[in-house]
Amino acid sequence: MLLLRWSHRGIETYESSLLEWVAKADGSQPNLLKHAPIHERLIDLGISIGIECDALVVGGASSTVEHSLLATMQFERGQVTHVDCVSPRRSDLLPDAELIWRDGYFPLEVTPDELPQVEVIICLAASRLFDDPFDTYSELLKCAKPGALVIIDFLDQPIIRSGGLSGLSAWAKREWSSNPETVLTMLRDFARLSMAASSVLGDLKLEVQSDSPELGLRPGSHNCQTVIYETLFPLWYRPGAELEEVMKLIAWQLHYTSVRATIPKIQTFADNNGMHVEALWPLTPDTNVLIARMPHDAKPSVCSRSTTQ
Ligand SMILES: C[S@@+](CC[C@H](N)C(=O)[O-])C[C@H]1O[C@@H](n2cnc3c(N)ncnc32)[C@H](O)[C@@H]1O
Repeated sequence: MLLLRWSHRGIETYESSLLEWVAKADGSQPNLLKHAPIHERLIDLGISIGIECDALVVGGASSTVEHSLLATMQFERGQVTHVDCVSPRRSDLLPDAELIWRDGYFPLEVTPDELPQVEVIICLAASRLFDDPFDTYSELLKCAKPGALVIIDFLDQPIIRSGGLSGLSAWAKREWSSNPETVLTMLRDFARLSMAASSVLGDLKLEVQSDSPELGLRPGSHNCQTVIYETLFPLWYRPGAELEEVMKLIAWQLHYTSVRATIPKIQTFADNNGMHVEALWPLTPDTNVLIARMPHDAKPSVCSRSTTQ
């Protein structure tokens, strides 16, 4: 959808939300290395899916990551349905797959009952953008066939970063509907600040003395800028990155959920849904991954909330 705005330059068009702007504008290549541990787990666990089966990918964008995981699991033929406002890219890895694209957000714009029942569900690096990942994943599990394989991740952001982001985030999302240019101006300045801070910090290192999960810190030597980025505020920068790319990476963060999905909470969620956990581990300091099987006998009595802290 598009938002029309009058300005001194005439009619200007913007995406209908900041999320849609960043999702469509983000042409950056996914960092496949980040997902290497998921491939390794699948191989170690000996997980391969039938030669012919159907899969559902939510929030895959171009779906490069998800297609490579399906290929690792020896997916050969079947439908792969993608739900996102970004269209999937055909991949040589899945030459015989039938790719289907449902344009929109799950579950509000594309509901579970509009989607097929599948043997594999993958949702990675998208749940951080859900209001509540446990609620949305509960809806998603309605699309799982008995015994389906589920590969999903959860954000567990340090308290300081999520607290600092929430006010700015609420403002930016609200402001976008009336003044998208103001939001873009803020993002531009924020990105310049990130780039300037980064060039001052350079390779400066910080010795962290003790484990501090509240700050998202682990003992050891860390790059100062990485620490700021991961624990305090999204001063994102990579040498050589263009201003636009830095703006987009910051805009992603403004959509991150403030719900903390710790390992015990995820375990409770899996138990409540009758799932058999194959693996549950921290992929990065702020991201936990769950690989699990749905029960074989019955549909789960889907329970969204986990009670364990
Ligand atoms: C950071 S990208 C992740 C892309 C890919 N999964 C990866 O790991 O590289 C997040 C994607 O999730 C999509 N997304 C966010 N919320 C969504 C929702 N409720 N339903 C479907 N897609 C969603 C965004 O549009 C975006 O394309």
